[in-house]
Amino acid sequence: MYNIEDDIERILISEKDIKKAVKKMGKAISKDYADKNLMLVAVLKGSVIFMGDLMRAISIPINIDFMSVSSYGGGTKTSGVVKIIKDLDHDLSGKDILIVEDILDSGMTLSYLTKILRQRNVASIKVATLLDKPERRIADITADYTCFTVPDEFVVGYGLDYDQLYRNLPYVGVLKPRVYENKAE
Ligand code: IMP
Ligand code: MG
Repeated sequence: MYNIEDDIERILISEKDIKKAVKKMGKAISKDYADKNLMLVAVLKGSVIFMGDLMRAISIPINIDFMSVSSYGGGTKTSGVVKIIKDLDHDLSGKDILIVEDILDSGMTLSYLTKILRQRNVASIKVATLLDKPERRIADITADYTCFTVPDEFVVGYGLDYDQLYRNLPYVGVLKPRVYENKAE
């Protein structure tokens, strides 16, 4: 039986450490948004697992919604212009929006997204990310809540994919080089 763990070279962040950090973030958010009108907005699909754990670590009343976006144009680099594949179902007026992301990389996607959402009468917009890769940042954007800062390495697991796989790993890890090599062949 093919086990996806066989493709992992090393674990970067363990399941236990993720659990601890997400709990801590949930507590901070509960405190910061105690008198606000919090709506968590997760960007599909990478952030679903983080969203599921984070929302259960928050103790105040919240609304949740999901959005799906894709980068316009070909090429491997994000153009910064994103197309909305699935928009939010809820009206955002008066809401304090917290965008829940898996990883903040170049920041192009998030900077475009916050620009769009800002036009919808929101009370505030902030960003909570599981991982931050600051070395790769192009857009002028910082996360308000971060669980872990990671080096400039491609990571998978806990929602993050390579070629749509490995999202179901319970930890964040680095793939064996042969996984990419096989793909190139
Ligand atoms: P950016 O910040 O606009 O460059 O885009 C961030 C998106 O790129 C994330 O939401 C991920 O879907 C993807 N991404 C960036 N770095 C990684 C990584 O190391 N592993 C998996 N996906 C990544
Ligand atoms: Mg993503």
